[in-house]
Amino acid sequence: MCVAPANASDLPITLTISIGAIGYGYWGPNVVRNLAELPDCRLSTACDLDADRLKQLKRRYPDISTTTSVDEVLQDRSIQAIYLATPVSTHFELASRALEAGKHVLVEKPLASSAEQAERLCELAEKTGQVLMVGHTFVYSPPVVRIKEVLTAGTVGDLHYLDCARVNLGLFQKDVSVLWDLIPHDLSILLYWLGRAPVLVSAHGRSLLGDRLEDVAFVNLEFADGVLAQLHVSWLAPVKLRRMTIVGSKLMVLYDDVEPVEKVKLFDRGVDKVHNPETFGEFQLTYRTGDITSPKIDATEPLLLECQDFLECIRTGRKPRSDGRFGLAIVRVIEAAERSMRNRGTAQEVAA
Ligand SMILES: NC(=O)c1ccc[n+]([C@@H]2O[C@H](COP(=O)([O-])OP(=O)(O)OC[C@H]3O[C@@H](n4cnc5c(N)ncnc54)[C@H](O)[C@@H]3O)[C@@H](O)[C@H]2O)c1
Repeated sequence: MCVAPANASDLPITLTISIGAIGYGYWGPNVVRNLAELPDCRLSTACDLDADRLKQLKRRYPDISTTTSVDEVLQDRSIQAIYLATPVSTHFELASRALEAGKHVLVEKPLASSAEQAERLCELAEKTGQVLMVGHTFVYSPPVVRIKEVLTAGTVGDLHYLDCARVNLGLFQKDVSVLWDLIPHDLSILLYWLGRAPVLVSAHGRSLLGDRLEDVAFVNLEFADGVLAQLHVSWLAPVKLRRMTIVGSKLMVLYDDVEPVEKVKLFDRGVDKVHNPETFGEFQLTYRTGDITSPKIDATEPLLLECQDFLECIRTGRKPRSDGRFGLAIVRVIEAAERSMRNRGTAQEVAA
């Protein structure tokens, strides 16, 4: 039997990593499916408070042992890592208990319900060298990674602004507003693409169904270099939009995740300011409407790449793409957006 140490630096370098999964509701099964398929990990135990959910899991994966007790999973010294897919309000308590029990942790987005909690989780993991990763799946999505390559190559030119819409007739969450539920996706993509967090946030939101938690929100971000981004998230919309537009001085990029094939389109379009040869000192605008190209995108499931990154980071000690600090930066932006909503859209600074 492989014994899990109290401190990650004592971890045995084993080929197969033993994992316990906590939370098998709506999202957990997607990650469990990927973990169960990976040859270099063993999903030994699954836990949920709801015994019916565990019965469903057992029918599909008879070899995985199940329990309704989190303590049982955390006390199992053969388990080296925990995957956590429970409601956001439980992330801090369960993730800190798992880290304190010496486990590496992959926790679903958002990392925690407040920046203070998220910071404490980061510090806990850093103290012992354990891997703390957040399930910001989109930063593993091949179209998102392809656009990151385009941005890094500089072909977009000067970045002007980004526009994002993530709306549909969505699943209303009981414990979090649409801001905490949907905006982590767009924020994770923006922070990954730009390599930095915004400095100012203003936001408006409403609970259209009359509850306490907002189901629609409009968020504006400003980055230190003046780049702007606008995000619209809603659970109340007639059609599903998962669309992000990047406008640069040389190229415009459209990422439409609802498109089955051509998810990324590069538009050689723009407006250039040129000297008017007839009137000294004046400028005229010339419109550029060139080719539209759609790069070939790898079809690998993002969740598989996310799970592989988690396992590799446990093995090598490298930081995951969406590590705890990345998750913390996202929580800080959400908090600033929430403060702005409570102050009728007044711009709020994002804590650094
Ligand atoms: N990465 C993504 O794209 C993505 C998509 C959807 C949801 N999520 C995230 O996944 C997490 C779970 O969301 P969901 O929609 O699956 O929620 P859910 O309510 O459908 O499922 C949560 C499950 O956790 C169980 N649970 C609750 N408290 C528990 C505890 N203390 N111990 C053990 N089990 C417990 C519940 O019984 C339930 O089965 C959230 O953080 C959410 O933001 C991520």
